[in-house]
Amino acid sequence: MLEEKAVKEMDESRQGEALKLENQDNKSRKVLIESYGCQMNFSDSEIVASILEDNGYATTRNAEEADLVLINTCSIREKAEQTVRKRLDFYNSVKKQQPSMTVGVLGCMAERLKSKFLEEEKLVDLVVGPDAYRDLPGLVEEVKDGRKAVNVILSKEETYADISPVRLGGNGVTAFVSIMRGCDNMCTFCVVPFTRGRERSRDPESIVNEVKDLAEKGYKEVTLLGQNVDSFLWYGGGPKKDFKKLTEEERESSVNFAGLLGMVAQAAPNVRVRFSTSHPKDMTDEVLHVMAAHKNICKYIHLPVQSGSSRVLELMNRGYTSDWYKNRIEAIRRIIPECAISQDIIAGFCSETEEDHQATLDLMDYVKYDFGYMFMYSERPNTVAQKKFVDDVPHDVKKRRLSEIIEKQNQHSLERNKTYVGKVHEVLIEGLSKRSDQEWYGRTTQNTVVVFPKSDEKPGDYVHVKVHDCTAATLLGKRVEG
Ligand code: 5AD
Ligand code: SF4
Repeated sequence: MLEEKAVKEMDESRQGEALKLENQDNKSRKVLIESYGCQMNFSDSEIVASILEDNGYATTRNAEEADLVLINTCSIREKAEQTVRKRLDFYNSVKKQQPSMTVGVLGCMAERLKSKFLEEEKLVDLVVGPDAYRDLPGLVEEVKDGRKAVNVILSKEETYADISPVRLGGNGVTAFVSIMRGCDNMCTFCVVPFTRGRERSRDPESIVNEVKDLAEKGYKEVTLLGQNVDSFLWYGGGPKKDFKKLTEEERESSVNFAGLLGMVAQAAPNVRVRFSTSHPKDMTDEVLHVMAAHKNICKYIHLPVQSGSSRVLELMNRGYTSDWYKNRIEAIRRIIPECAISQDIIAGFCSETEEDHQATLDLMDYVKYDFGYMFMYSERPNTVAQKKFVDDVPHDVKKRRLSEIIEKQNQHSLERNKTYVGKVHEVLIEGLSKRSDQEWYGRTTQNTVVVFPKSDEKPGDYVHVKVHDCTAATLLGKRVEG
Protein backbone atom coordinates (compact mmCIF):
# COMPACT_ATOMS: atom_id res chain seq x y z
CA MET A 1 0.00 0.00 0.00
CA LEU A 2 2.40 2.65 -1.11
CA GLU A 3 1.33 6.23 -0.76
CA GLU A 4 4.08 7.92 -2.69
CA LYS A 5 7.63 7.41 -3.79
CA ALA A 6 10.13 8.67 -1.24
CA VAL A 7 12.50 9.19 -4.06
CA LYS A 8 11.02 11.67 -6.41
CA GLU A 9 12.13 13.02 -9.66
CA MET A 10 10.78 16.51 -9.30
CA ASP A 11 9.66 17.03 -12.85
CA GLU A 12 7.12 14.29 -12.35
CA SER A 13 6.16 15.08 -8.77
CA ARG A 14 6.00 18.64 -7.50
CA GLN A 15 6.09 19.93 -11.03
CA GLY A 16 3.50 17.75 -12.69
CA GLU A 17 1.12 17.66 -9.81
CA ALA A 18 -1.56 20.12 -10.73
CA LEU A 19 -4.08 21.05 -8.14
CA LYS A 20 -7.39 22.46 -9.06
CA LEU A 21 -8.63 24.49 -6.19
CA GLU A 22 -12.21 24.71 -5.17
CA ASN A 23 -14.15 26.70 -2.64
CA GLN A 24 -17.81 26.55 -3.53
CA ASP A 25 -20.29 29.18 -2.46
CA ASN A 26 -22.85 31.48 -3.94
CA LYS A 27 -20.56 34.10 -5.38
CA SER A 28 -21.61 35.14 -8.83
CA ARG A 29 -18.38 34.60 -10.76
CA LYS A 30 -16.25 31.49 -10.79
CA VAL A 31 -12.50 31.11 -11.03
CA LEU A 32 -10.54 27.94 -11.69
CA ILE A 33 -6.94 28.04 -10.46
CA GLU A 34 -4.46 25.38 -11.51
CA SER A 35 -1.06 25.34 -9.79
CA TYR A 36 2.26 23.91 -10.91
CA GLY A 37 5.70 23.83 -9.35
CA CYS A 38 6.88 24.37 -5.82
CA GLN A 39 4.94 24.67 -2.57
CA MET A 40 5.34 28.44 -2.80
CA ASN A 41 3.21 28.46 -5.94
CA PHE A 42 0.47 26.46 -4.24
CA SER A 43 0.61 28.88 -1.34
CA ASP A 44 0.43 31.85 -3.74
CA SER A 45 -2.69 30.37 -5.36
CA GLU A 46 -4.37 30.55 -1.94
CA ILE A 47 -3.49 34.25 -1.76
CA VAL A 48 -4.89 34.76 -5.26
CA ALA A 49 -8.10 32.93 -4.27
CA SER A 50 -8.41 35.23 -1.26
CA ILE A 51 -7.96 38.40 -3.33
CA LEU A 52 -10.51 37.20 -5.87
CA GLU A 53 -12.95 36.04 -3.21
CA ASP A 54 -12.97 39.58 -1.82
CA ASN A 55 -13.96 40.66 -5.31
CA GLY A 56 -16.94 38.38 -5.78
CA TYR A 57 -15.36 35.17 -7.09
CA ALA A 58 -15.91 31.63 -5.88
CA THR A 59 -13.51 28.91 -6.93
CA THR A 60 -14.47 25.93 -9.04
CA ARG A 61 -12.83 22.77 -10.39
CA ASN A 62 -15.12 22.67 -13.36
CA ALA A 63 -13.77 24.44 -16.47
CA GLU A 64 -17.26 24.53 -17.99
CA GLU A 65 -18.58 26.89 -15.34
CA ALA A 66 -15.41 28.99 -15.02
CA ASP A 67 -15.51 32.68 -16.00
CA LEU A 68 -11.82 32.93 -15.25
CA VAL A 69 -9.08 30.29 -15.55
CA LEU A 70 -5.71 31.04 -13.98
CA ILE A 71 -2.65 28.84 -14.42
CA ASN A 72 -0.02 29.44 -11.75
CA THR A 73 3.14 28.54 -13.60
CA CYS A 74 6.62 27.22 -12.88
CA SER A 75 9.80 27.94 -14.83
CA ILE A 76 12.36 26.00 -12.86
CA ARG A 77 13.03 23.43 -15.58
CA GLU A 78 12.07 23.29 -19.22
CA LYS A 79 9.75 20.36 -18.65
CA ALA A 80 7.67 22.37 -16.18
CA GLU A 81 7.19 25.04 -18.83
CA GLN A 82 6.14 22.46 -21.42
CA THR A 83 3.47 21.12 -19.07
CA VAL A 84 2.01 24.59 -18.68
CA ARG A 85 1.96 25.12 -22.43
CA LYS A 86 -0.11 21.97 -22.85
CA ARG A 87 -2.60 23.20 -20.27
CA LEU A 88 -2.88 26.54 -22.04
CA ASP A 89 -3.60 24.75 -25.32
CA PHE A 90 -6.29 22.76 -23.55
CA TYR A 91 -7.99 25.85 -22.09
CA ASN A 92 -7.85 27.56 -25.44
CA SER A 93 -9.80 24.69 -26.93
CA VAL A 94 -12.36 25.01 -24.08
CA LYS A 95 -12.52 28.73 -24.81
CA LYS A 96 -13.73 28.04 -28.32
CA GLN A 97 -16.96 26.73 -26.75
CA GLN A 98 -17.02 29.41 -24.04
CA PRO A 99 -15.70 32.61 -25.66
CA SER A 100 -16.49 34.75 -22.61
CA MET A 101 -14.00 32.82 -20.47
CA THR A 102 -10.83 34.73 -19.51
CA VAL A 103 -7.57 32.75 -19.42
CA GLY A 104 -4.61 34.06 -17.48
CA VAL A 105 -1.07 33.08 -16.59
CA LEU A 106 0.31 33.73 -13.11
CA GLY A 107 3.65 33.12 -11.47
CA CYS A 108 7.12 32.37 -12.68
CA MET A 109 6.55 32.15 -16.44
CA ALA A 110 4.83 35.53 -16.49
CA GLU A 111 7.79 37.85 -16.89
CA ARG A 112 9.70 35.81 -19.42
CA LEU A 113 6.86 34.81 -21.68
CA LYS A 114 4.45 37.70 -21.39
CA SER A 115 4.79 39.02 -24.92
CA LYS A 116 4.98 35.54 -26.41
CA PHE A 117 1.78 34.42 -24.68
CA LEU A 118 -0.15 37.64 -25.14
CA GLU A 119 0.88 38.92 -28.53
CA GLU A 120 2.76 36.36 -30.59
CA GLU A 121 0.77 33.25 -29.79
CA LYS A 122 -2.38 34.90 -28.40
CA LEU A 123 -2.66 32.07 -25.90
CA VAL A 124 -3.88 34.14 -22.96
CA ASP A 125 -5.79 37.33 -22.08
CA LEU A 126 -3.98 38.08 -18.85
CA VAL A 127 -0.42 37.79 -17.51
CA VAL A 128 0.29 38.54 -13.85
CA GLY A 129 3.64 38.13 -12.08
CA PRO A 130 4.09 36.87 -8.48
CA ASP A 131 4.18 40.34 -6.91
CA ALA A 132 1.17 41.80 -8.72
CA TYR A 133 -1.70 39.63 -7.49
CA ARG A 134 -3.43 42.53 -5.73
CA ASP A 135 -3.92 43.97 -9.20
CA LEU A 136 -5.76 40.90 -10.49
CA PRO A 137 -9.37 42.12 -10.07
CA GLY A 138 -8.57 45.35 -11.94
CA LEU A 139 -6.70 43.50 -14.67
CA VAL A 140 -9.62 41.11 -15.19
CA GLU A 141 -11.85 44.15 -15.71
CA GLU A 142 -9.41 45.48 -18.31
CA VAL A 143 -9.76 42.22 -20.20
CA LYS A 144 -13.54 42.58 -20.05
CA ASP A 145 -13.10 46.02 -21.64
CA GLY A 146 -11.34 44.34 -24.53
CA ARG A 147 -7.73 44.92 -23.56
CA LYS A 148 -4.96 42.43 -22.95
CA ALA A 149 -3.88 42.96 -19.36
CA VAL A 150 -0.41 42.52 -17.93
CA ASN A 151 1.47 43.34 -14.74
CA VAL A 152 4.77 41.57 -14.15
CA ILE A 153 6.43 44.25 -12.03
CA LEU A 154 8.46 42.74 -9.22
CA SER A 155 8.39 44.45 -5.85
CA LYS A 156 10.94 44.88 -3.09
CA GLU A 157 8.24 45.08 -0.42
CA GLU A 158 5.22 42.95 -1.31
CA THR A 159 4.75 40.03 1.11
CA TYR A 160 0.92 39.83 1.10
CA ALA A 161 1.29 39.91 4.88
CA ASP A 162 -2.24 41.20 5.48
CA ILE A 163 -3.99 38.68 3.23
CA SER A 164 -5.56 35.61 4.84
CA PRO A 165 -5.10 32.84 2.31
CA VAL A 166 -8.21 30.87 1.36
CA ARG A 167 -7.24 27.26 2.21
CA LEU A 168 -8.17 25.25 -0.81
CA GLY A 169 -7.66 21.75 -2.06
CA GLY A 170 -6.13 20.78 1.27
CA ASN A 171 -6.93 18.18 3.91
CA GLY A 172 -7.84 20.61 6.71
CA VAL A 173 -4.87 19.28 8.69
CA THR A 174 -1.73 20.71 7.06
CA ALA A 175 -1.22 24.22 5.65
CA PHE A 176 1.52 26.32 4.09
CA VAL A 177 2.47 29.70 5.53
CA SER A 178 4.68 31.90 3.39
CA ILE A 179 7.30 33.72 5.53
CA MET A 180 9.29 35.45 2.82
CA ARG A 181 9.39 35.96 -0.94
CA GLY A 182 12.03 36.07 -3.65
CA CYS A 183 15.65 34.99 -3.50
CA ASP A 184 18.95 36.88 -3.46
CA ASN A 185 21.27 33.93 -3.79
CA MET A 186 21.85 33.83 -7.51
CA CYS A 187 22.75 30.18 -7.85
CA THR A 188 23.99 30.17 -11.43
CA PHE A 189 21.56 27.46 -12.64
CA CYS A 190 18.45 28.99 -11.12
CA VAL A 191 15.79 31.15 -12.67
CA VAL A 192 14.00 31.97 -9.39
CA PRO A 193 15.84 35.24 -8.60
CA PHE A 194 14.65 36.50 -12.00
CA THR A 195 11.08 35.26 -11.81
CA ARG A 196 10.39 36.01 -8.14
CA GLY A 197 12.66 38.98 -7.54
CA ARG A 198 14.49 40.22 -4.48
CA GLU A 199 14.29 38.50 -1.17
CA ARG A 200 12.05 40.08 1.47
CA SER A 201 10.85 38.78 4.82
CA ARG A 202 7.33 39.04 6.12
CA ASP A 203 6.36 40.71 9.40
CA PRO A 204 6.73 37.98 12.09
CA GLU A 205 3.61 39.18 13.90
CA SER A 206 1.48 38.52 10.82
CA ILE A 207 3.08 35.07 10.48
CA VAL A 208 2.36 34.17 14.12
CA ASN A 209 -1.21 35.45 13.78
CA GLU A 210 -1.76 33.34 10.67
CA VAL A 211 -0.48 30.24 12.48
CA LYS A 212 -2.68 30.93 15.53
CA ASP A 213 -5.66 31.37 13.26
CA LEU A 214 -4.92 28.04 11.56
CA ALA A 215 -4.62 26.37 14.97
CA GLU A 216 -8.01 27.78 15.99
CA LYS A 217 -9.51 26.39 12.81
CA GLY A 218 -8.25 22.92 13.70
CA TYR A 219 -5.11 22.70 11.56
CA LYS A 220 -2.40 20.51 13.09
CA GLU A 221 0.65 21.24 10.96
CA VAL A 222 2.12 24.32 9.29
CA THR A 223 5.02 24.47 6.85
CA LEU A 224 6.84 27.81 6.85
CA LEU A 225 7.85 28.57 3.27
CA GLY A 226 10.68 30.56 1.74
CA GLN A 227 13.33 29.99 -0.95
CA ASN A 228 15.98 30.28 1.78
CA VAL A 229 14.31 30.36 5.20
CA ASP A 230 17.67 30.66 6.98
CA SER A 231 18.12 34.20 5.69
CA PHE A 232 14.78 35.34 7.15
CA LEU A 233 15.40 38.69 8.85
CA TRP A 234 13.03 41.30 10.20
CA TYR A 235 14.04 44.28 12.28
CA GLY A 236 11.67 46.58 14.20
CA GLY A 237 10.99 48.73 11.14
CA GLY A 238 10.60 46.08 8.50
CA PRO A 239 12.37 43.49 6.42
CA LYS A 240 16.03 44.10 5.85
CA LYS A 241 18.46 41.86 4.15
CA ASP A 242 21.87 42.52 5.52
CA PHE A 243 22.31 42.03 9.25
CA LYS A 244 25.69 43.80 9.06
CA LYS A 245 23.98 47.00 7.95
CA LEU A 246 21.58 47.14 10.91
CA THR A 247 22.16 49.66 13.70
CA GLU A 248 22.67 48.38 17.25
CA GLU A 249 19.07 49.23 18.13
CA GLU A 250 17.71 47.52 15.01
CA ARG A 251 19.76 44.42 15.76
CA GLU A 252 18.23 44.17 19.19
CA SER A 253 14.69 44.26 17.85
CA SER A 254 15.48 41.99 14.92
CA VAL A 255 13.99 38.55 14.41
CA ASN A 256 16.01 35.94 12.51
CA PHE A 257 14.80 32.51 11.42
CA ALA A 258 15.71 30.86 14.72
CA GLY A 259 13.71 33.56 16.53
CA LEU A 260 10.73 33.19 14.22
CA LEU A 261 10.73 29.40 14.54
CA GLY A 262 10.67 29.66 18.33
CA MET A 263 7.86 32.25 18.22
CA VAL A 264 5.73 30.08 15.93
CA ALA A 265 6.36 26.89 17.94
CA GLN A 266 5.37 28.64 21.16
CA ALA A 267 2.30 30.36 19.70
CA ALA A 268 0.73 27.04 18.66
CA PRO A 269 2.11 24.23 20.86
CA ASN A 270 -0.30 21.62 19.48
CA VAL A 271 0.61 22.37 15.91
CA ARG A 272 3.53 20.69 14.21
CA VAL A 273 5.93 23.13 12.60
CA ARG A 274 7.88 22.31 9.44
CA PHE A 275 9.85 24.59 7.16
CA SER A 276 11.36 24.62 3.70
CA THR A 277 13.86 25.32 2.20
CA SER A 278 17.06 25.49 4.27
CA HIS A 279 20.30 26.67 2.72
CA PRO A 280 23.56 24.97 3.77
CA LYS A 281 25.50 28.24 3.65
CA ASP A 282 23.12 29.99 6.06
CA MET A 283 21.78 27.25 8.34
CA THR A 284 22.98 28.06 11.86
CA ASP A 285 23.43 25.94 14.98
CA GLU A 286 21.03 28.41 16.62
CA VAL A 287 18.23 27.13 14.35
CA LEU A 288 19.14 23.53 15.22
CA HIS A 289 19.03 24.28 18.95
CA VAL A 290 15.58 25.85 18.59
CA MET A 291 14.44 22.73 16.72
CA ALA A 292 15.81 20.50 19.47
CA ALA A 293 14.17 22.58 22.19
CA HIS A 294 10.60 22.41 20.83
CA LYS A 295 8.79 19.09 20.60
CA ASN A 296 6.37 20.47 18.03
CA ILE A 297 9.09 21.48 15.55
CA CYS A 298 9.43 18.50 13.24
CA LYS A 299 12.77 16.75 13.18
CA TYR A 300 13.29 17.02 9.47
CA ILE A 301 15.46 19.30 7.35
CA HIS A 302 15.39 19.62 3.59
CA LEU A 303 18.97 20.67 2.86
CA PRO A 304 19.61 20.79 -0.90
CA VAL A 305 23.22 19.98 -1.73
CA GLN A 306 23.01 20.13 -5.57
CA SER A 307 26.47 18.52 -5.99
CA GLY A 308 29.12 16.77 -3.91
CA SER A 309 31.97 18.38 -5.85
CA SER A 310 33.37 21.62 -4.42
CA ARG A 311 34.47 22.64 -7.91
CA VAL A 312 30.91 22.31 -9.24
CA LEU A 313 29.47 23.96 -6.14
CA GLU A 314 31.66 26.96 -6.83
CA LEU A 315 30.49 27.11 -10.45
CA MET A 316 26.95 26.91 -9.13
CA ASN A 317 27.69 29.84 -6.77
CA ARG A 318 26.25 27.92 -3.86
CA GLY A 319 28.47 29.61 -1.30
CA TYR A 320 29.79 26.42 0.37
CA THR A 321 32.18 23.55 -0.23
CA SER A 322 31.58 19.88 0.22
CA ASP A 323 33.43 20.03 3.57
CA TRP A 324 31.27 22.91 4.77
CA TYR A 325 28.17 20.94 3.86
CA LYS A 326 29.46 17.90 5.77
CA ASN A 327 30.09 20.13 8.75
CA ARG A 328 26.43 21.23 8.67
CA ILE A 329 25.35 17.57 8.51
CA GLU A 330 27.54 16.84 11.54
CA ALA A 331 25.94 19.75 13.39
CA ILE A 332 22.47 18.31 12.69
CA ARG A 333 23.53 14.83 13.84
CA ARG A 334 25.09 16.28 17.00
CA ILE A 335 22.27 18.62 18.02
CA ILE A 336 19.25 16.62 16.75
CA PRO A 337 20.36 12.97 16.43
CA GLU A 338 16.93 11.73 15.30
CA CYS A 339 16.62 14.37 12.53
CA ALA A 340 15.79 13.23 9.00
CA ILE A 341 17.57 14.98 6.14
CA SER A 342 16.60 15.20 2.48
CA GLN A 343 18.37 16.59 -0.55
CA ASP A 344 18.01 18.23 -3.95
CA ILE A 345 20.68 17.13 -6.41
CA ILE A 346 21.30 18.25 -9.98
CA ALA A 347 22.95 15.72 -12.32
CA GLY A 348 25.05 16.92 -15.24
CA PHE A 349 25.62 20.60 -14.50
CA CYS A 350 27.93 22.40 -16.96
CA SER A 351 31.41 20.81 -17.14
CA GLU A 352 30.57 18.08 -14.58
CA THR A 353 33.10 15.24 -14.94
CA GLU A 354 32.85 11.61 -13.87
CA GLU A 355 34.98 12.55 -10.83
CA ASP A 356 32.56 15.32 -9.90
CA HIS A 357 29.67 12.90 -10.29
CA GLN A 358 31.49 10.34 -8.13
CA ALA A 359 31.97 13.06 -5.48
CA THR A 360 28.17 13.48 -5.41
CA LEU A 361 27.67 9.73 -4.97
CA ASP A 362 30.33 9.71 -2.21
CA LEU A 363 28.65 12.58 -0.41
CA MET A 364 25.35 10.70 -0.58
CA ASP A 365 27.09 7.70 1.03
CA TYR A 366 28.40 10.02 3.73
CA VAL A 367 25.03 11.58 4.55
CA LYS A 368 22.67 8.69 3.77
CA TYR A 369 19.72 10.96 3.08
CA ASP A 370 16.24 9.89 4.09
CA PHE A 371 14.88 10.97 0.73
CA GLY A 372 15.55 13.37 -2.08
CA TYR A 373 14.50 15.25 -5.16
CA MET A 374 16.79 14.69 -8.11
CA PHE A 375 16.96 16.39 -11.48
CA MET A 376 18.87 16.55 -14.70
CA TYR A 377 20.36 19.98 -15.28
CA SER A 378 18.07 22.03 -17.47
CA GLU A 379 19.51 25.26 -18.88
CA ARG A 380 17.31 28.26 -18.11
CA PRO A 381 17.27 31.50 -20.06
CA ASN A 382 19.12 34.51 -18.62
CA THR A 383 20.76 32.62 -15.79
CA VAL A 384 24.50 33.06 -15.24
CA ALA A 385 25.05 29.45 -16.30
CA GLN A 386 23.26 30.06 -19.58
CA LYS A 387 25.28 33.20 -20.25
CA LYS A 388 28.72 32.08 -19.10
CA PHE A 389 28.93 28.29 -19.18
CA VAL A 390 28.32 25.62 -21.76
CA ASP A 391 25.63 23.00 -21.16
CA ASP A 392 28.12 20.39 -22.29
CA VAL A 393 27.16 17.16 -20.53
CA PRO A 394 25.38 15.04 -23.16
CA HIS A 395 21.76 14.15 -22.41
CA ASP A 396 22.41 10.40 -22.16
CA VAL A 397 25.27 11.03 -19.69
CA LYS A 398 23.04 13.29 -17.58
CA LYS A 399 20.39 10.60 -17.67
CA ARG A 400 22.78 7.82 -16.61
CA ARG A 401 24.21 9.92 -13.78
CA LEU A 402 20.71 10.83 -12.61
CA SER A 403 19.66 7.19 -12.53
CA GLU A 404 22.76 6.28 -10.50
CA ILE A 405 21.89 9.03 -8.03
CA ILE A 406 18.28 7.88 -7.83
CA GLU A 407 19.31 4.27 -7.35
CA LYS A 408 21.62 5.21 -4.50
CA GLN A 409 18.90 7.31 -2.89
CA ASN A 410 16.49 4.38 -3.11
CA GLN A 411 18.96 2.15 -1.28
CA HIS A 412 19.50 4.75 1.42
CA SER A 413 15.78 5.44 1.83
CA LEU A 414 15.14 1.73 2.29
CA GLU A 415 18.03 1.38 4.77
CA ARG A 416 16.78 4.38 6.71
CA ASN A 417 13.19 3.11 6.77
CA LYS A 418 14.34 -0.31 8.01
CA THR A 419 15.74 1.38 11.12
CA TYR A 420 12.18 2.54 11.91
CA VAL A 421 10.72 -0.99 11.77
CA GLY A 422 9.82 -2.53 15.13
CA LYS A 423 9.48 0.91 16.75
CA VAL A 424 6.51 3.01 17.81
CA HIS A 425 6.11 6.39 16.08
CA GLU A 426 3.83 9.33 16.71
CA VAL A 427 1.88 9.89 13.51
CA LEU A 428 -0.30 12.81 12.51
CA ILE A 429 -3.18 11.45 10.41
CA GLU A 430 -3.56 13.46 7.20
CA GLY A 431 -6.28 11.46 5.48
CA LEU A 432 -7.25 8.23 3.80
CA SER A 433 -4.60 6.17 2.07
CA LYS A 434 -4.85 6.57 -1.68
CA ARG A 435 -4.86 2.81 -2.17
CA SER A 436 -7.49 1.82 0.35
CA ASP A 437 -10.28 3.59 2.22
CA GLN A 438 -9.72 1.13 5.06
CA GLU A 439 -6.34 2.65 5.87
CA TRP A 440 -5.06 5.98 7.14
CA TYR A 441 -2.15 7.90 5.76
CA GLY A 442 0.02 10.11 8.00
CA ARG A 443 3.57 11.21 8.71
CA THR A 444 6.12 10.90 11.46
CA THR A 445 8.03 13.92 12.71
CA GLN A 446 10.78 12.82 10.28
CA ASN A 447 8.30 13.33 7.43
CA THR A 448 8.16 9.62 6.64
CA VAL A 449 4.82 8.38 5.35
CA VAL A 450 3.05 5.79 7.52
CA VAL A 451 0.04 3.71 6.46
CA PHE A 452 -2.03 1.75 8.98
CA PRO A 453 -5.54 0.21 9.29
CA LYS A 454 -8.41 2.48 10.22
CA SER A 455 -10.50 2.25 13.35
CA ASP A 456 -12.17 5.17 15.16
CA GLU A 457 -9.54 7.86 14.44
CA LYS A 458 -10.00 10.94 12.28
CA PRO A 459 -7.72 13.15 10.19
CA GLY A 460 -5.85 15.57 12.45
CA ASP A 461 -5.47 13.03 15.28
CA TYR A 462 -2.04 12.22 16.66
CA VAL A 463 -1.74 8.47 17.17
CA HIS A 464 0.98 5.97 18.01
CA VAL A 465 1.78 3.41 15.36
CA LYS A 466 4.03 0.39 15.68
CA VAL A 467 5.80 -0.20 12.37
CA HIS A 468 6.12 -3.83 11.23
CA ASP A 469 7.27 -3.44 7.63
CA CYS A 470 8.52 -0.87 5.14
CA THR A 471 9.45 -0.06 1.57
CA ALA A 472 11.86 2.71 0.51
CA ALA A 473 8.88 5.07 0.53
CA THR A 474 6.46 3.99 3.23
CA LEU A 475 6.25 2.54 6.72
CA LEU A 476 3.47 0.01 7.37
CA GLY A 477 2.16 -0.38 10.88
CA LYS A 478 -0.66 -0.86 13.40
CA ARG A 479 -1.98 1.57 15.94
CA VAL A 480 -0.98 0.97 19.56
CA GLU A 481 -1.95 2.82 22.72
CA GLY A 482 0.42 5.76 23.37
N1 5AD B 1 17.98 22.51 -13.69
C1 5AD B 1 17.73 21.44 -12.89
N2 5AD B 1 17.33 21.56 -11.62
C2 5AD B 1 17.17 22.80 -11.13
N3 5AD B 1 16.78 23.24 -9.90
C3 5AD B 1 16.76 24.58 -9.93
N4 5AD B 1 17.13 25.04 -11.13
C4 5AD B 1 17.39 23.95 -11.89
C5 5AD B 1 17.81 23.77 -13.22
N5 5AD B 1 18.07 24.81 -14.02
C6 5AD B 1 16.50 22.34 -8.78
C7 5AD B 1 17.47 22.58 -7.63
C8 5AD B 1 16.61 23.27 -6.61
C9 5AD B 1 15.24 22.66 -6.89
C10 5AD B 1 14.08 23.43 -6.36
O1 5AD B 1 15.20 22.60 -8.30
O2 5AD B 1 17.90 21.32 -7.15
O3 5AD B 1 17.03 23.05 -5.29
FE1 SF4 C 1 17.33 29.20 -6.78
FE2 SF4 C 1 19.55 29.11 -5.28
FE3 SF4 C 1 17.55 30.81 -4.65
FE4 SF4 C 1 17.21 28.18 -4.30
S1 SF4 C 1 18.70 29.45 -3.21
S2 SF4 C 1 15.74 29.63 -5.25
S3 SF4 C 1 18.35 27.32 -6.01
S4 SF4 C 1 18.82 30.88 -6.49
